[in-house]
Amino acid sequence: MLDLLIRNVRIVDAVGDDCIASAPSFLGVHDGRIACIGLMQDLDATIHAAAKDRDGDGSLLTPGFIDCHTHLVYAGDRAREFDLRLRGASYEEIARAGGGIRSTVKLTREADERALFLASARRLKELMRHGVTTVEIKSGYGLSLDHELKCLRVARLLGERFPIEVRTTLLAAHAVPPEFDGQADAYIDEVVQRIIPEAKRQGLADAIDAFCETIGFSPQQTRRVFDAAQAAGLPVKLHAEQLSNQHGAALVAEYGGLSADHLEHLDEAGIAAMAKAGTVAVMLPGAFYFLRDTKLPPIDLLRRHRVPMAVSTDCNPGTSPCTHLPLMMNMACTLFRMTPAEALLGVTRHAAKALGLQATHGTIEVGKWADLCLWNVDQPAELAYAIAGSPLAGRFHHGLEHAL
Ligand code: NIG
Ligand code: FE
Repeated sequence: MLDLLIRNVRIVDAVGDDCIASAPSFLGVHDGRIACIGLMQDLDATIHAAAKDRDGDGSLLTPGFIDCHTHLVYAGDRAREFDLRLRGASYEEIARAGGGIRSTVKLTREADERALFLASARRLKELMRHGVTTVEIKSGYGLSLDHELKCLRVARLLGERFPIEVRTTLLAAHAVPPEFDGQADAYIDEVVQRIIPEAKRQGLADAIDAFCETIGFSPQQTRRVFDAAQAAGLPVKLHAEQLSNQHGAALVAEYGGLSADHLEHLDEAGIAAMAKAGTVAVMLPGAFYFLRDTKLPPIDLLRRHRVPMAVSTDCNPGTSPCTHLPLMMNMACTLFRMTPAEALLGVTRHAAKALGLQATHGTIEVGKWADLCLWNVDQPAELAYAIAGSPLAGRFHHGLEHAL
């Protein structure tokens, strides 16, 4: 017997390079997973008896959204720097003057675990309200062994307390902390010798990330981080080519990385390397918008090389204070000229792959988790079309529906 039967929905699926809604259909759930899918006309009450019945009323059914790149756990905000930038300072200038990531590090270090949990939970609930059922959360505002682990513990706890799946990424190589000022290599020693092995030992990290940039870490330093990740048996991803071309995409591809993220300054060699390695390109239009960037990521080349593109909020206080993934879909279309279908695949199928979860998440298929969203819209393109508001009508995590 099924635990849940969702009836009278139009299931959205990729067909060619488009996303199409099916004829009225049903979907059955057993043990949190999708057990059967069929057309309403074939629904047989005796075969498909279910403990719970949910009428979808003709709404669209998509996989639950996956936000595959966030810095959700932090304290404070950076509204003051927003103001400074509007008076002419650049993101890099603020970072070099000790602001930027470091100002959030100071507040995050001062916050205890409970305060950090409460601040992050608020943002998490907003993500959930917009259809997110799986979220990746990076550390990177602790920048010491204790504070990085604290942030990862908070991320894990969020996943235990809320009906959402959390995947954690250790981003200790996000910035050089003040106590290592001018000694980036010594800080990388600390990251590779202590922080990565300890995060692994405590089971707190599912992946390792770094910020490869002139104001972050060099390709050589990034390589050391990746070697340590590999030694710990953890997959890698990278903040690459955001502000300049450091050839980070090719580097992360060389390590078989899950994803390269941002990518405004990506070149064709990097794209070819990603295509070969199966590394996902994660598009972060919120940061592009917020920094008023003008260099567009090479979407057309990525398409031509058939690199899967994901779309994410990059939720963080400095460059993308955003918890609205459908808005990022809209921006991926308006700013990057992705199609609505690409944007939808970017927050479902390809976002799952960016987290290494493609076998169990990201599409509506028998055997996969019943992580699903019901939408009060007529056609799939509407999901990327609206700038504000939310047509979300239902959200299921592992087959259980939770209030929005
Ligand atoms: O993804 N690029 C580096 N990291 C973040 C920004 C962090 C911050 O400014 O606090 C990003 O854009
Ligand atoms: Fe980021």
